[in-house]
Amino acid sequence: MIGTSDEDVQLANKLVDPAAENNKQPILNVLTQILPDDNPSYMVLELASGTGQHITYFAEHFPLIQFQPSDIEPQYLQSIRAHIREYEINAFTQNCLQPITIDLRAPPTPHKQVDCVYTANLTQIVPLEITRNLFSFAEKILRKNGFLIIYGPFAKDGHITPESNRKFNEYLQKHDERWGLKDINELTSLATKHQLQLRQIFDMPANNKILWFIKID
Ligand SMILES: C[S@@+](CC[C@H](N)C(=O)[O-])C[C@H]1O[C@@H](n2cnc3c(N)ncnc32)[C@H](O)[C@@H]1O
Repeated sequence: MIGTSDEDVQLANKLVDPAAENNKQPILNVLTQILPDDNPSYMVLELASGTGQHITYFAEHFPLIQFQPSDIEPQYLQSIRAHIREYEINAFTQNCLQPITIDLRAPPTPHKQVDCVYTANLTQIVPLEITRNLFSFAEKILRKNGFLIIYGPFAKDGHITPESNRKFNEYLQKHDERWGLKDINELTSLATKHQLQLRQIFDMPANNKILWFIKID
C-alpha cells in the first residue's frame, strides 16, 4: 500500500545534494574542534541551509547544543523540515529547530543573540553586497566571543587556484557577473569593520576552506 500520510508527504520533500553528502563529514571534523559539545544553551544559526543535510548531521553529532536552520527558498524550507523529521525518528534529543526564513538581501533585526553563525557555499553564489550583509548581520546577532564560520571556495591575494576553482568561478560569473569566489583578504577586512577577527583558516577537501571568525566586541 502506498503511504499518503502527512508524514509520508513531508518526507517526500526531502532533497539530497551529493556535494552536501560528501562535505558534511569533513566540515563536522572541523566543527568538533571548534564548538562546545555540552552546553545546552549554545545556539548555532545556519544561514542558507539548502537541503538541510548539513544541519541535521551536525545536530545528530552535537546532541547537547541547539541548531537553527534557515533559507529563503520554499522547496529548501520543506526539505529541511523533512530532514528534521527523519532525524528526529531516532534522535537522542530534539535539538534542531524548525527552519525560519532569513533573506540576506534584507536581513532582519535580530531579537535574540546566538553563539555561532554557520554558512556553507553561499558567498560564491551571491553578490559582494550580500556577503557584506552577512558580516553585518553576524555582528548584530552574535554574542561576544561568538563564531562566524564560512565554508566554501575562495580566492586569495587576488588569485584563484587551482584550475578547477578558476573554471567554477568563470561558470558562476557567466550566470551573474556579481557572483564568484570572494577573496579572503577582502572578507577579512570586511570582517574587521564588523568586530569580527579571523581566527583560523582550515584547508578542506576539493579546494574548499573554512574561515573561522570570532566576534571580538
Ligand atoms: C549553493 S546552496 C548551498 C546550500 C547548503 N548550505 C550547502 O552547502 O549544501 C546556496 C543556498 O543559498 C540560499 N540563498 C540564496 N540567496 C540567499 C539570500 N539572499 N539569503 C539567504 N539565503 C540565500 C539558497 O536558497 C541556497 O539554499
